[in-house]
Amino acid sequence: MPSEPPGRIFLTGFSFSGKSHVAPLVATILGWRAVDLDDLIEQAAGKPVPAIFAEEGEPGFRLRETEALRRACGETEVVVATGGGVVLAEENRRLMAESGLVVCLEARPQTIHTRLQLPDGGSESERPLLRGPDPLGRIRHLKALRQPLYALADFTVHTDDLTPELVAEEAVRAWRRFAECLSYDEGRLAGASSGGTPAVMGDVPVEEAGPICNVRTETSDYAVYAGWGTIEKLGEKLREAGLSGDVYVITDSNVHGDYGGRIADALSGEGFAVHTHVFPAGEASKTLGRASEIYDWLTSHRAERGQGVVALGGGVAGDLAGFVAATYLRGLPLVQVPTSLLAMVDASIGGKVAVDQREAKNLIGAFYQPLLVFADVATLRTLPERELTSGWAEVIKHALIMDPDLLAQLEDRVDALRALEPNVTTQVVRCSMALKAQVVAEDERELTGRRSILNYGHTAGHALEAATGYGFLLHGEAVALGMLVAAEIGRRMGLTPPELVERQEALLERFDLLRPLPKISADAVLAAMSLDKKVSGKSIRWVLLTGVGKPVLRSDVPLPLAREVVEELLASQGERV
Ligand SMILES: NC(=O)c1ccc[n+]([C@@H]2O[C@H](COP(=O)([O-])OP(=O)(O)OC[C@H]3O[C@@H](n4cnc5c(N)ncnc54)[C@H](O)[C@@H]3O)[C@@H](O)[C@H]2O)c1
Ligand SMILES: [Zn+2]
Repeated sequence: MPSEPPGRIFLTGFSFSGKSHVAPLVATILGWRAVDLDDLIEQAAGKPVPAIFAEEGEPGFRLRETEALRRACGETEVVVATGGGVVLAEENRRLMAESGLVVCLEARPQTIHTRLQLPDGGSESERPLLRGPDPLGRIRHLKALRQPLYALADFTVHTDDLTPELVAEEAVRAWRRFAECLSYDEGRLAGASSGGTPAVMGDVPVEEAGPICNVRTETSDYAVYAGWGTIEKLGEKLREAGLSGDVYVITDSNVHGDYGGRIADALSGEGFAVHTHVFPAGEASKTLGRASEIYDWLTSHRAERGQGVVALGGGVAGDLAGFVAATYLRGLPLVQVPTSLLAMVDASIGGKVAVDQREAKNLIGAFYQPLLVFADVATLRTLPERELTSGWAEVIKHALIMDPDLLAQLEDRVDALRALEPNVTTQVVRCSMALKAQVVAEDERELTGRRSILNYGHTAGHALEAATGYGFLLHGEAVALGMLVAAEIGRRMGLTPPELVERQEALLERFDLLRPLPKISADAVLAAMSLDKKVSGKSIRWVLLTGVGKPVLRSDVPLPLAREVVEELLASQGERV
């Protein structure tokens, strides 16, 4: 394990994400050298890239690409701009992960399309992207296939609205923050060299796929896995994560009935001694009292430091077992095995664990990152319909605040997703988990404001949950209505485009997320809003959208405006009863 960081940064990403432009800028800031992989390939071959493609085909080019990459890895203090396809080969991914920091430059398909059409846009090797009837569609398709491989980077910079100089600064910031603590352990390397191949990712369930991403925060580094029908592999993954001996599975009564046996088999098959504790399903179990029962149970089994806790179930199991793991013996390794959609895309990632205290939800808790997150998306097949529907609200929220492509995919595939078609569901869940992981990695403890974009729809959503009496609305249903409120406020403040307001409502409607509301007063909702913990000083903090993927935090929403929009919502949703 090298003690000195090796002084190499690899820029990856789709064609026209700006790698060649940005590499020299990064090199200048660090006082290093920039190299372009295509240049190295051309020098070695003595001919330009299009000629290599013409004479040796893509396989010939790829062989040369790996050779060039290997040469680049022999140098230090170097920033390497790679080609868009470099991530396709497992060997290349491993080489890069072994040799330095991998920074992915992200750009939306629309941005890439626009850049390609500029007068100086597109080298010869990139031109084929523009041929044919639907270039944007082709970019979208190719990019979607490669996305899980780009996502294996150590750090991602979203370049759409940034100048090359700002992108370079972000990359340097990533280097300064992560280079020292880059672990060259098997987990990271295995993560980089797994991930399947695009053919696998595109067309069949992602059973064999590697981790979606590694969540790297200031305090931890862990892998997030999700596939279809992968439950039997849990034991293997625990082992790979360094666990052995006794494990403590904590789960609720529903999930235990459906999956307790299979999980125990998967773990004991890998040599673990499995102990299982079952608590009554439901939010009412998220208490210190239940936590205390679990402490007693762990004590009765003489649980020791280093032995793993598996939180199996929805967000309640994740939060309760997570809280116990965070506190027992000052912390036992925690494995999140989420089985509800909400827990997969939200609660299991990010390290917030808590129990409720009387009416105050999540009052007593901690930030405690798991050792591993492992989701079998196929478990959603037994999740009650309404819980499933509610979970889609958070997926839609992730798309709205961060990912126009995911939003388009949700719109295109509503029926397949609601029917849990394996391929598309797995892809969408993986994507949504990766988005959450990305935000958390950027702002682990909600200090910079980045993490608060996840509260889109939650200011009014939490207030609606409280004002209707907890339990009337499921969390996602409340968030869906909360997103309607936020969008309408944004529209009236001239921030949110009217088309986006309509687009959002249509999608929420198609996912059947807009539930009728009982008769409650706007006053009750407003009062709950001011009590909510997202209040900063005296003003309520709103996340509003200026576009898809463009959230802004605003504390200047006039109270009368909020009241007016809430009143209208209560009137329109009240009519549905
Ligand atoms: N820690 C975080 O960052 C975070 C984020 C969001 C929500 N949460 C918490 O998560 C909780 C809500 O999570 P939830 O909606 O998953 O609730 P939950 O855990 O109560 O699960 C919902 C219901 O579905 C059942 N269930 C779960 N998976 C199943 C499956 N595969 N098959 C059949 N039944 C299944 C459960 O038994 C339960 O009855 C709340 O307590 C909330 O505070 C935490
Ligand atoms: Zn939420």
